[in-house]
Amino acid sequence: MTQATNTVRFVLDGQIVEAQGKRRTTTVLDYLREQLQRTGTKEGCAEGDCGACVVMVGELNSAGTGVDYVATNSCIQLLPSLDGKSVKTVESLKKADGTLHPVQEEMVKCHGSQCGFCTPGIVMSLVNMVQTNAQPSRLEITDALSGNLCRCTGYAPIIDAAAKACEKKAALKIDDSSDIALLKEIKRPSTPTMSLDGEIIVQPVVRTKKGNEFVSPSTLAEVADYLVKHPTTTLLAGSTEIGLQVNKQFSRPDHIMYLGNVKELRQVDETDKAWRIGAAVSLTQVETLVAKAYPDFAEVLRRFGSPPIRSTATLAGNIANGSPIGDTMPCLMALGASLVLRRGDKSRRVSLDNFYTGMKKNVLEAGEFIEAIELPKPVSGQVFRAHKISKRFEQDISATCAAITYSLKSGKLSGVKLAYNGLAPSPCRAPKLEAVLEGKAPSDVKAADLDAAITASFTARDGLRATWVYRALVARNLVLEFIEEHTSEVA
Ligand SMILES: Cc1cc2nc3c(=O)[nH]c(=O)nc-3n(C[C@H](O)[C@H](O)[C@H](O)COP(=O)(O)OP(=O)(O)OC[C@H]3O[C@@H](n4cnc5c(N)ncnc54)[C@H](O)[C@@H]3O)c2cc1C
Ligand code: FES
Ligand code: FES
Repeated sequence: MTQATNTVRFVLDGQIVEAQGKRRTTTVLDYLREQLQRTGTKEGCAEGDCGACVVMVGELNSAGTGVDYVATNSCIQLLPSLDGKSVKTVESLKKADGTLHPVQEEMVKCHGSQCGFCTPGIVMSLVNMVQTNAQPSRLEITDALSGNLCRCTGYAPIIDAAAKACEKKAALKIDDSSDIALLKEIKRPSTPTMSLDGEIIVQPVVRTKKGNEFVSPSTLAEVADYLVKHPTTTLLAGSTEIGLQVNKQFSRPDHIMYLGNVKELRQVDETDKAWRIGAAVSLTQVETLVAKAYPDFAEVLRRFGSPPIRSTATLAGNIANGSPIGDTMPCLMALGASLVLRRGDKSRRVSLDNFYTGMKKNVLEAGEFIEAIELPKPVSGQVFRAHKISKRFEQDISATCAAITYSLKSGKLSGVKLAYNGLAPSPCRAPKLEAVLEGKAPSDVKAADLDAAITASFTARDGLRATWVYRALVARNLVLEFIEEHTSEVA
């Protein structure tokens, strides 16, 4: 390893920025605003909700010929995770001759801004979209904007501006040609550093005087080795939970390990029967992966946070965080997913059904981590349905989310797997409800039997987002809806 430690190196508009002496929990937003005076990027909520802080983060593509971008909430991303990447802010868009990006020009012409506080984030979300999609539908435009709140303008002129901008196809791509060589220059080696006696040494990106570290390994072996040596390390994947803990609870973990540069964890491997999804694969990628096989799962993911959240958030982070209202777990449980857990050089496979031991508690041992999620592919005749109930369509938290798989054998429900969030201390299967359904013709399923099974399965408790009465009703009605399409066939 030749690179100096304690320096976060990233590319900003054709220049390498070396950020030295920063805390391991300094956010990208704070660094941009306070050190680089890039004050176009705003802070609204500091928790990933409002989108005022959206910037584009780029990585060299696999061929090394271009830069792939994601829109991301800079308020919840930690600066050291930017090491080796590039960033574009709203200030990056204006050309040397003063020309604005078409999205900016049309925002002016279509009156897409009033107080302007949300505008830089909105512009960056749209500019990010048009890098890969120059002909977005109205739905794709509204999806791209679903993580950007505007309190005064109203969205119609903003959507019109996006559509108008896309008429200027030739000018939509940002010019980042000068960044490519620099991204190659700051790339860290992709093999572990070894000591003379063959020990893996993980070089920190940041090390404080007290010896606290932010490390960003590039191989699975380094991750496993470091965690055995430092079992209390906080793993950082997409930072959409950790970023909140840093900003809102002032969490300052001693050791932080970023997983986003680990090649093996960013891979999806495929067999005839299953996908093996690495722990650092983003939800955006998972959404694309499951779109055809499990459209309802893709819809749950489309409603998970917003595009800048999904661009970094991971399945492993959702699962490990273990929130009772985590949205991916009911889908994964109903589909029979299992986890590959790793500690040192030993791996074990645990069904997701058996992962949780209580509220935010799980079977992970000290130094153990989630390496991958194994998701079975659909089999012939299998029905999969899922639906998330929340007050807003997107960027909202579940009252409950339910998912089911089954097939019909001679008109009877068979192999039923049903799972929920929001009803228990952790997302879980519902074996008593499954028993009510198993072996019955869909038209013979009685609401009262489902109600009784719900009462017998879960402790009634009201929550901030919904009363128990509402949740229990929804939990039953979703099941009836999931089997309704087959009731007429057998009635
Ligand atoms: C604005 C906003 C909207 C959101 N909307 C939703 C939503 O609609 N539905 C929903 O379910 N959640 C939502 N969340 C919560 C969050 O986005 C998810 O839980 C997300 O999947 C976390 O993934 P991450 O990669 O960002 O995790 P991180 O924040 O990086 O980590 C989360 C936890 O998992 C641990 N961890 C990460 N990777 C591993 C690993 N490989 N092995 C073991 N432990 C690991 C971390 O140490 C940490 O404790 C939202 C969050 C925000 C800020
Ligand atoms: S400041 Fe609101 S999402 Fe970042
Ligand atoms: S223009 Fe004021 S919040 Fe959008």
